[in-house]
Amino acid sequence: MGLLKIVHYPSPVLLTVGKPVETFDENLEKLALDMFETMYHADGVGLAAPQVGISSRLFVMDCSGGTDPSRRFVIINPEIIACEGHQIGKEGCLSFPGIYTEIKREMRVIVRFQDLKGSLQELDVTGLEARCVLHETDHCDGIVFLNRMTPFKRALAKKKIKEFQISGKWEVSRSFETI
Ligand code: NI
Repeated sequence: MGLLKIVHYPSPVLLTVGKPVETFDENLEKLALDMFETMYHADGVGLAAPQVGISSRLFVMDCSGGTDPSRRFVIINPEIIACEGHQIGKEGCLSFPGIYTEIKREMRVIVRFQDLKGSLQELDVTGLEARCVLHETDHCDGIVFLNRMTPFKRALAKKKIKEFQISGKWEVSRSFETI
């Protein structure tokens, strides 16, 4: 187990479509465990592989903050198969530390995915978990939450990002790998 390094925007891996996961082995299990550890350590509720420099389609999620093991999910090769309703709420991203913006998302989502054994599963979630599934699936598609902001909020966020980058607080990595 170990903490992984979280890459910050605009690291190219965050803007690249992830490769489907094809090998379900102990390396994948170890990666998922390390991603959970990294996510809890950073007080996040979701973390996608591209955020730790790995351009592959998987993410971990736990919107209970580690208090309810039944809400702990490893989602591999996610595919959103149904959405309904809307919600507007503040959203952040571990690859954009210090940026929180209201974003409109669907209220309920059904996601089809593979688990660590490679078996197909479906998960039907609402509220924060739906927001998280959409945000993290976007990461697997090389989409960051800037793309989901209104033009006005995006302009404000970009201004702040520039300030953070000039101050050297954000770590940008040029290289990336897949699993
Ligand atoms: Ni994010």
